[in-house]
Amino acid sequence: MIIKGDSTEYELITKHICKLKLEPVVLTCEIGLREGLGSKIIMDAIRELNPKFHKHIAVDPYNNFSYEHYDNEGSVVAGYTEEMKQKTVSYLYQNYPEFDFYHMTDEYYFKTMGEGHQIVLNQELLLFGLYQAVHLDGPHTTKAIIEELSFFIPRMTYKGLIIIDDFKDLQMGIVDMLLKTYNFNVAEEGDNKIIYQKEI
Ligand SMILES: C[S@@+](CC[C@H](N)C(=O)[O-])C[C@H]1O[C@@H](n2cnc3c(N)ncnc32)[C@H](O)[C@@H]1O
Repeated sequence: MIIKGDSTEYELITKHICKLKLEPVVLTCEIGLREGLGSKIIMDAIRELNPKFHKHIAVDPYNNFSYEHYDNEGSVVAGYTEEMKQKTVSYLYQNYPEFDFYHMTDEYYFKTMGEGHQIVLNQELLLFGLYQAVHLDGPHTTKAIIEELSFFIPRMTYKGLIIIDDFKDLQMGIVDMLLKTYNFNVAEEGDNKIIYQKEI
């Protein structure tokens, strides 16, 4: 199998996506693609609900670059290589027409894609930027997660899901307060992943 994961509790993503009542147009995103399992799980779950249109965005710079994975760890090279990108991204493009890849860091995606994505519906070009589910699984520092939340919180749909991997490594007090301030509640807390859902 080309697609692999490096974490646990992917079934929680499936469970909470499958409970959603989707609008006809659905946008989802994963920060940190690696070998693709998080994105595959999101796309498979959305397929079960059969919306009129789905676009899934994966954002990952690969290139084996050195960055801080966890708070106070210093920069580390973790082996997310261009070969890994080529294998994973080509498989996903071939098997999931709803998949789209952005070869860049989260920061650059936020700087450039805040207006939304161009989609074509009934031969009409639209700009769409409201996310139904996002999986935050790139850098796991509190600073990076806060920056990711600052982008996504105002761009989530009603009942939108924000899934955070390795949440126990974060300063969750700050993260939880930010999300609750904007009416996100905990839908489920696992050992590894925590899922927030927008209530208003
Ligand atoms: C823990 S892995 C992702 C695992 C994957 N989501 C899964 O379910 O198996 C982390 C990934 O984040 C990527 N990454 C590192 N810095 C990033 C950044 N600033 N923005 C987006 N992705 C980043 C790495 O290249 C790596 O592929």
